[in-house]
Amino acid sequence: MNYLNCVESIIMYNSKIAGLGMYVPENKVSNHNLTHLMDTSDEWIKERTGIKERRHIKKGDGNSTAVMGVKAAKQAIERAKISSDDIELILFATLSPDYYFPGSGVLVQEMLSIKDCPAMDIRNQCSGFVYALATADQFIKSGMYKNVLVIGSENHSGGLDFSTRGRDVSVIFGDGAGAAVVSREVDNDKGILSSHLHSEGKHAEELSLIGPSTNRWVPEIIEANDPEDISYYPYMNGQFVFKNAVVRFEQVILEGLKKNNLSTEDIDLLIPHQANLRISQFVQRKFGLKDRQVYNNIEKYGNTTAASIPIALTEAWESGLINTGDKIVLAAFGSGFTWGSIILNWQ
Ligand code: UT7
Repeated sequence: MNYLNCVESIIMYNSKIAGLGMYVPENKVSNHNLTHLMDTSDEWIKERTGIKERRHIKKGDGNSTAVMGVKAAKQAIERAKISSDDIELILFATLSPDYYFPGSGVLVQEMLSIKDCPAMDIRNQCSGFVYALATADQFIKSGMYKNVLVIGSENHSGGLDFSTRGRDVSVIFGDGAGAAVVSREVDNDKGILSSHLHSEGKHAEELSLIGPSTNRWVPEIIEANDPEDISYYPYMNGQFVFKNAVVRFEQVILEGLKKNNLSTEDIDLLIPHQANLRISQFVQRKFGLKDRQVYNNIEKYGNTTAASIPIALTEAWESGLINTGDKIVLAAFGSGFTWGSIILNWQ
């Protein structure tokens, strides 16, 4: 190793978000549309979740989890003013990959024609984007890569129970994708300041899709031929998840602020995972944050799981709500349970 390589290998870099992009399918599904499929109402959905409409992939529109991710990624790459050949690692966060295996990251590698680029799927559901961003940050901090493409994308609509039986879950989720190009930043006070990740697997089944899986193989399901077996639909213990979410959001945001000697007043913009408007409002009230300090768009897209933070971040940035020097807080909680936060000093 020569002197320069040696020096480079001990320098710790920071990482910054250099470009953001998003994509949602054109097909809008209003609460009213859902009342034709199940016993629900616009009032119930708006009051309990804040959602007015969501986007669903339409059969034949060409979208898939990876395809939507690529659309968001192309926008992020263009805005980062680099070419896809500059991407050295793809991190793909999703709970709804195109295939059981391989992951969707490799499909993105192929669709973007990035030669031999490593690709990794991150399976952390609603916290997936935060986990993926934290992972990108570590690869950049270590000096291994200069540009990492981080994608959060979900195709929920094809796998939900749109009968009254599944209404507590199916009205919430929507399809879409968001992406960020994460790049090397030489100023250690700029970009991602810290990331904070947690999990608590004892609650794994409180928000889960159990079968088909290696725990519940397809032949076993077919052989049982039990119409009551709906383990192939997502299950959520809604109130339990809600109660845990508000506690973990608060804890992990405070953890991030403390690490950086910041207070809630220093938050320029909090972008919480869009799980339920009532959760965001609870956190806002708890911290005494003003409306302009919290970004929500769940009314338009529902809960897009791993895609919700990058979609919201992209929209907030496009609306001019994020400026140089702003302290941005990203926070997520979801299935696992997993939760996390990222504190950014926008460069
Ligand atoms: O993104 C990952 C993390 N996810 C979350 O954080 C989500 C957390 N949980 C929630 O957002 C909420 O618990 C839900 C939105 C899922 C449910 O809201 P809730 O206020 O907790 O309602 P509930 O489950 O207590 O149900 C209240 C009533 C029930 O009827 P009864 O038993 O009181 O007669 C449900 O059957 O509302 C009924 N209900 C519905 N009614 C109309 C449940 N879903 C619906 C629906 N339309 N879609």
